[in-house]
Amino acid sequence: MTAIQISNVQKRYKSLQALGGVSLSIEEGEFFGLLGPNGAGKTTLISIIAGLNRADAGTVQIHGHDVVSDFRAARRKLGVVPQELVFDPFFTVRETLRLQSGYFGLPNNDKWIDEVMENLDLTNKADTNMRALSGGMKRRVLVAQALVHKPPVIVLDEPTAGVDVELRQTLWKFISRLNREGHTIVLTTHYLEEAQAMCKRVAMLKAGQVVALDTMSSLIRKVAGSQLIVHLKAGDIPDDLRHLVLHAEPVDSGKKYSLKVNEYSEVEQILARLRANGAVIDEMQLQQADLEDIFLQIMEKGAL
Ligand SMILES: Nc1ncnc2c1ncn2[C@@H]1O[C@H](COP(=O)(O)OP(=O)(O)OP(=O)(O)O)[C@@H](O)[C@H]1O
Ligand SMILES: [Mg+2]
Repeated sequence: MTAIQISNVQKRYKSLQALGGVSLSIEEGEFFGLLGPNGAGKTTLISIIAGLNRADAGTVQIHGHDVVSDFRAARRKLGVVPQELVFDPFFTVRETLRLQSGYFGLPNNDKWIDEVMENLDLTNKADTNMRALSGGMKRRVLVAQALVHKPPVIVLDEPTAGVDVELRQTLWKFISRLNREGHTIVLTTHYLEEAQAMCKRVAMLKAGQVVALDTMSSLIRKVAGSQLIVHLKAGDIPDDLRHLVLHAEPVDSGKKYSLKVNEYSEVEQILARLRANGAVIDEMQLQQADLEDIFLQIMEKGAL
């Protein structure tokens, strides 16, 4: 089943086109990354998905429920961790989570609430007032709030902004577990290493348009800039491979070359050519472009 179906969503703030016709289909069980620079429209799209903001045109469905005409059913399927810290300062952590449960019509939810708090390392703050929490702890509560009704679709808008390393790891462990158990995860983050490690598929937004949509592995494979580094202790690069040399330097016992490769299959051909030319490889390394290289390339050129 399709978890989130976004069809031609447009949103304008006065003269600014925040979303210029975004279409995306996210399947149940995916771990999906929604990436893009500041102001790209990620939060605007998420707030439309959450039914907190109205699109000017287009539709969004969560598990088949339209977020406008079938708001309650759509909302029930969805948990959103908002980018902005919003909370009621007068309630404790546990009260905040109980209230949220009540909102979803789940009065006896303490077992799950305890489990969520445990997994987000909030147990010892359960009876602390929200106003007495640090910024990172408040963010944990926002995550807990989004999960209180065990939604099948979980959308996290920069959940790790301002969060320390330990909590990030705790959070990713918990979110990965939920994904393994079948929950669909949509993640927005500026920490591209996190996105690369977690997301199987990504969409990149730029100025309200989807400029890339692919699996993480094929995005990374596509990018020009992967390098094969070979250290030759004898022989040399044949002339017909010279155009691939990005960098050459002498090393202790020979020469080190960085060669540009576009696809894995080229590596075999290069190695065969080297061997045929009498070159002896001492050491070899394939250095992959990472998501950050790809992101910058897409944002600069508009495409790969
Ligand atoms: N309520 C609003 N009124 C006017 N303009 C808005 C409003 N909300 C967002 N915008 C504008 O819409 C554009 C998209 O903003 P949005 O918050 O969706 O970006 P984002 O991708 O989430 O960025 P960030 O990475 O900084 O969170 C920005 O140019 C922003 O200034
Ligand atoms: Mg945002």
